[in-house]
Amino acid sequence: MSVAISLAQPLPASSDAATAETLYHFEQTPLLARQAQQESNARSYPRRIPLALKKARGLYVEDVEGRQFIDCLAGAGTLALGHNHPVVIEAIQQVLADELPLHTLDLTTPVKDQFVQDLFGILPAALRDDAKIQFCGPTGTDAVEAALKLVRTATGRSTVLSFQGGYHGMSQGALSLMGSLAPKKPLAALLGNGVQFLPYPYDYRCPFGLGGTAGIKVNLHYLENLLNDPESGVQLPAAVIVEAVQGEGGVIPADIEWLRGVRRITEKAGVALIVDEIQSGFARTGKMFAFEHAGIVPDVVVMSKAIGGSLPLAVVVYRQWLDTWQPGAHAGTFRGNQMAMAAGSAVIRYLVEHDLCAHAQAMGERLREHLRRLQQNFPQLGDIRGRGLMLGVELVDPDSARDALGHPAACPHLAPRVQRECLKRGLILELGGRQGAVVRFLPPLVITAQQIDEVAERFARALAAAVANR
Ligand SMILES: Cc1ncc(COP(=O)(O)O)c(C=O)c1O
Repeated sequence: MSVAISLAQPLPASSDAATAETLYHFEQTPLLARQAQQESNARSYPRRIPLALKKARGLYVEDVEGRQFIDCLAGAGTLALGHNHPVVIEAIQQVLADELPLHTLDLTTPVKDQFVQDLFGILPAALRDDAKIQFCGPTGTDAVEAALKLVRTATGRSTVLSFQGGYHGMSQGALSLMGSLAPKKPLAALLGNGVQFLPYPYDYRCPFGLGGTAGIKVNLHYLENLLNDPESGVQLPAAVIVEAVQGEGGVIPADIEWLRGVRRITEKAGVALIVDEIQSGFARTGKMFAFEHAGIVPDVVVMSKAIGGSLPLAVVVYRQWLDTWQPGAHAGTFRGNQMAMAAGSAVIRYLVEHDLCAHAQAMGERLREHLRRLQQNFPQLGDIRGRGLMLGVELVDPDSARDALGHPAACPHLAPRVQRECLKRGLILELGGRQGAVVRFLPPLVITAQQIDEVAERFARALAAAVANR
């Protein structure tokens, strides 16, 4: 299979990091200093990735100092085809050449119509034949907000069940669904009793201390009981919202049988199942949508990130029985980004034509294999997990006391050191999970086998340096 050969090459000025260890040093350049001085204290990525970027292509970004980095963050999983892929650039240029209105609210255009046909074309048939779509404000968070309003209106119920470790965005409604407590702490007012949290099937740290099929069985039993016990103390919710692979929560793939069980139990109870595919969608996990690994059909699918081909776009796709909200129930000025829709159509077609699902699966397996081999020498790599090209490694302290499942404690101090050592070697990775102890790999899906090997090599050197400097 050919995956955009031109993108396999670094940008022209690249150093040959495969043969010689290149170690970058990071100082406070004028751009970074001004950013720190003028931008909000809430800024996040620049604190861990202190780069001022100038140029990007495919897997590579270059900063203003002329240094090159392999980008395994890829816009937090947004850039399915990498930076500035030719089909995306061409689609955007075509919109401009055709003098399409760039701003259309939610009025239709040929580009929008084509985008909907392309998107519906990749939905599983059982959903496609029954699907409606709502265009949202351009962020994933807004699509989550829309999904909440949709299910609450249709069911007449107000509460929602969410999962520990879940991440659904940063607006105050979406935030109330989040497992992590830190961002919610200063906003006490949003912590109403409208959201009930449930244990996620985090196998390595099984919330029931069981792990494996026993943990899954208890988890499902707990949910079923909660929804059916008249004295559970929990109102029947409008919906259950879930990520089929938790991303920010630490790259935790939900067990396939568990997903099937959740679908069966929610369906029986008349509770809508919302699957948040904002990060895991569009071939990232080796299927077009991560829920497809379980062969289930959700009632609502929330999508963003890769859907806009690197431009902002977010939608909710849902089954018709939920379509009871009134005209204007969820509005927003910026729902008509034609360039994002054209780019999104280009991405969808490329994913299908180049079978990037299979490619993501194969490349993910290759990277996993590298990591497993590395694990033999580095017990700090506690758990290697994920699906397709959504992979993570939970770093642990091998000398710590074991938990109920016999696993050592997470090592949140090592993770930032590994991240920094990676950056010094020209590799951008992000952290996630509890206490930020999970190193995440989210490369563009067009990554080649050779590039996977390069990522693994740089990671191995960085890990060795981080462990040695403890
Ligand atoms: C699963 C999931 N849901 C929702 C969001 C929020 O999307 P956005 O940051 O575009 O608002 C994210 C962002 O990372 C996400 O990963």
